[in-house]
Amino acid sequence: MAEQEDVIELAKRRGFFFGANGAYGGVAGFYTYGPNGAAVKDNLESAWRDRFTVRQGNMEIEAPTIMPEAVFEASGHLDGFDDMLVECPECGESHRADHLIEDNTGIEEAESLPIAEVKELIREHDLRCPTCDTPLADEPVEDFNLMFETSIGPGSGQPGYMRPETAQGIFVEFPRLKEYARNRLPFGVTQIGPAYRNEISPRKGIIRVREFTQAELETFIDPETDEPPLHEVEDVEVRLYSAEAQEADDGGITTTTVGEAVAEGVIASDWVAYYLGVAQEWYQRIGVDTDRFRFRQHLPGELAHYAADCWDAESEVGGDWIEITGFAYRSDYDLTKHADHSGESFTVFKQYDEPKTVERATVDPDMATLGPEFGGDAGAVAEALRTLAERDPDAFDADEVEVEVDGDSYTVDTDVANFSVETVTENGEHITPHVVEPSFGVDRIVYTVIEHAYRVDEVDGEERTYLALDPEMAATDAAVFPLVSNDDRLLDLADEVTADLRAAGLAVEYDDSGSIGRRYRRQDEVGTPFCVTVDRDGIEGDGPDTVTVRERDSARQVRVPVSAVADEIAALLDP
Ligand code: GAP
Repeated sequence: MAEQEDVIELAKRRGFFFGANGAYGGVAGFYTYGPNGAAVKDNLESAWRDRFTVRQGNMEIEAPTIMPEAVFEASGHLDGFDDMLVECPECGESHRADHLIEDNTGIEEAESLPIAEVKELIREHDLRCPTCDTPLADEPVEDFNLMFETSIGPGSGQPGYMRPETAQGIFVEFPRLKEYARNRLPFGVTQIGPAYRNEISPRKGIIRVREFTQAELETFIDPETDEPPLHEVEDVEVRLYSAEAQEADDGGITTTTVGEAVAEGVIASDWVAYYLGVAQEWYQRIGVDTDRFRFRQHLPGELAHYAADCWDAESEVGGDWIEITGFAYRSDYDLTKHADHSGESFTVFKQYDEPKTVERATVDPDMATLGPEFGGDAGAVAEALRTLAERDPDAFDADEVEVEVDGDSYTVDTDVANFSVETVTENGEHITPHVVEPSFGVDRIVYTVIEHAYRVDEVDGEERTYLALDPEMAATDAAVFPLVSNDDRLLDLADEVTADLRAAGLAVEYDDSGSIGRRYRRQDEVGTPFCVTVDRDGIEGDGPDTVTVRERDSARQVRVPVSAVADEIAALLDP
């Protein structure tokens, strides 16, 4: 198995990714993708778009990355999107308290423990600063909000935040998006774009960074009637690490099918199960090693503030399991919060098949009768009474009812409230959709794809390193080499072959520098599936001109006529 350091070193050397702003000393948690990395990332995003937007019939949007404070007050990020921080009194270095515990004691659940217990674990295990070994037992552990704050507009402006997930850009636009979906559920909206988190301790290359890319799909469903097309994936094999297996601590990963996991109740939500199946096939398509991949169920204490059921796709890299995708049943949490905070409607009108006759409890308080003691709150009190009548009509059997407005309690005579029950005919109702969300971390998947493709073997008695990338992911489809750079006939033919391949839509690199062995090694390390070499043997003699085509993984070479080379390589890349 590849050492993570070797992969990160290759990534830097071959232009996949490297720490950003190096000329100014760099800042932890920010990475630049070089030409090969940017191409792999782009290929990965295209493969995602193909599977999760186009083939699912979903809509893709692109929302701003900076959003006003009110959005995050509503979403819960302002209050609850924290990690626990402990600062070293000696060197001033900040550490994530749960990582400190996990790295030194193997206890993995510290992230979901209350601060007091985390502090106690640090004391009990006498944990020290990883940088300067100072004891941290007496240091405070504090919540640290991960959002980057900014100011919108000149002067003190209005507070804004870099979005910590692309999802909020979809939720806040729901009132308009539902119109594009003609007010019919279910429908899905996707977005691929940057997200920002001010991580306390970014680490492991692009795995934990402060600016990263998410590819998210928000599926809006009617929980009572909408079913996923589970039959499409019921035979897909998945490796599941259930909450039960984690609690038993037996390391047991069960290999089963999506259909069986649903039938046995291991995966509670059919929608989540459906997306695990779709994602499993997609991961295989892009070259994730299925033996180093699993779906892990969240433990009850680990669920995010919005999630009712959650599984993570995890890949094994550098000997550790990392979360690369979260699959969450978010219920109506997000839309209800945005409706409450914005006052806008985040519902869809659900038409009944047949009109229904229903009894509707209502109140009609006379504002004048509510009296001066209700002051400016009279309207809000009336609204609260109406809501109470719908939710709990029996409350009006008593002489008085109590309602709350903005934390103040009001007692109202039921006579004043004019409570009544009417029989009405309704054609439908307004419902708040539930949300099912697969949320992919693009950078972690790029890293996984590169590490899982990393191979070392021997060719012609020499060790070589190569990336066995799936051709769909590789930065370059083919490289063209004239064997020597001082023969115009070879150079002209190499130009011609390059032009033919590019005309066939392939990404081609032309390279005439260095020994042929070095050129092969360079392309092997980039993961280029085919190298085409133009040599004198191919242009001498009476027959048609030929070139050699070398396949990356086997390093086997075959001779191919120049006129056929573009078609043959295109066919091999896309069988
Ligand atoms: N909308 C749901 C959401 O954002 P999440 O589990 O917090 O869920 C989704 O993030 C994915 O984003 C993760 O599975 C992970 O792959 C990626 N991710 C999260 N934080 C990251 C970071 N600091 N660096 C790189 N990727 C990250």
